[in-house]
Amino acid sequence: MPPQTTSLSLVTVLRQRRDRLAELHPGPVVLWSGQAVSRNFPANTYPFRANSHFLYFAGLPLANAALHLEGGRLTLFTDDTSPEAALWHGPSPSREAIAADIGADAAYPYQDLDSYLAKAATLSTQTAGSECSKALVEALVTLRLHHDDYALDQIKRAAAVSVAAHTAGMAATPGATTEAQVRAAMEQVIMGQNMACAYNSIVTVHGEVLHNEQYHHNLAPGDLLLADVGAEAPSGWASDITRTWPVSGRFTSAQRDIYNLVLAAHDACIAAARPGVEYRNLHLLACRVLAAGLVDLGVLKGDPDALVERDVHALFFPHGVGHLLGLDVHDMEDLGDMAGYAPGRSRSDRFGLKFLRLDRPLAANMVVTIEPGFYQVPGILGPARQSGQYDDAINWDRLKTFDGVRGIRIESDVHINSAGCTVLTAALPTHAEAVEALVSGA
Ligand code: GLY
Ligand code: MN
Ligand code: MN
Repeated sequence: MPPQTTSLSLVTVLRQRRDRLAELHPGPVVLWSGQAVSRNFPANTYPFRANSHFLYFAGLPLANAALHLEGGRLTLFTDDTSPEAALWHGPSPSREAIAADIGADAAYPYQDLDSYLAKAATLSTQTAGSECSKALVEALVTLRLHHDDYALDQIKRAAAVSVAAHTAGMAATPGATTEAQVRAAMEQVIMGQNMACAYNSIVTVHGEVLHNEQYHHNLAPGDLLLADVGAEAPSGWASDITRTWPVSGRFTSAQRDIYNLVLAAHDACIAAARPGVEYRNLHLLACRVLAAGLVDLGVLKGDPDALVERDVHALFFPHGVGHLLGLDVHDMEDLGDMAGYAPGRSRSDRFGLKFLRLDRPLAANMVVTIEPGFYQVPGILGPARQSGQYDDAINWDRLKTFDGVRGIRIESDVHINSAGCTVLTAALPTHAEAVEALVSGA
């Protein structure tokens, strides 16, 4: 059960959400929670995670359940625990108790859903055709793009636990010899707070592998360790933090130069984030800061704007500067780009823009990540060098100075508000010296 938070009760929050849905989408809506997926045989399942659209209106992580929503009215379909299930899994709240907790107007056994829908369809001209589905998707996106106070409170709780996990990971590094040990130190904090990881953790000395989910490497004193680890509250609301720190507790001069450059891009985006600003322009701002900094360091040659125009920066920063954050770590990406891209917009095929997950103007109560990075990906830089195509723009000899920097990312969770923005993960330091102090225990 999620903790009760803020001055609003869960019942009130859920009622407001479905009243808003009714305004945006008057027709009937059915949302399913999903069920635990078997790993190898039915009784041995992966941890269950309810569908996020269901969670948004149900508030509780129920399995094998469905909601029927129409005109603000909520009908819950879920089963009481059978005596046999109770024997193995223990008692759980009755259907009536769950219905009361979420303010359902009616509640029936799960098996009644089909007959209920058959009857409802004869009463309603709205059925679930493709037109209806598109309208529903648009309504869900409109609702879930802007977080209510309850959601923000839950994201803040998840963010606070992620901050503690990263702090623990930094502190554990001097006594660790492997990536796995640092990962364990971080995830222990999340588990110890009765939360789950919002996504598969990345804790690696090979940060250039963008979604590296392997933990078998040893830690060497000259390595940078990139940790992208985020907690998810029991209610499903997520957080998403990346920090990169030196295993030795001290950045080399070359590592510090690049770290400070990524931090400058991160800070510039946060300083510019406020309602009305196009997220795409934040991405391009990060690109320009990185390109200008790489020119200053002698790695790139030429005018920074022209380098960005040519996507030269993207050889080192191939992903977008961030994404929506909510019930999903990449919020609503189950809907493709319908949430991330404003109506009428679609992904660019430019190398420097095609991985941009969010292309909308920012608005109050959106939560987004800001996560610029610098990576030396052999699969990108090798062919780029081989082709000779960038010899006028990249000083390959100078780049060798930075061989010890395989991957750096700095990622914060940012709440857009009327004053501009608030960094929900600000309690975790970003400055190189403060990060060093956390690692070395100074
Ligand atoms: N943790 C996944 C991401 O940062 O997008
Ligand atoms: Mn992220
Ligand atoms: Mn992340």
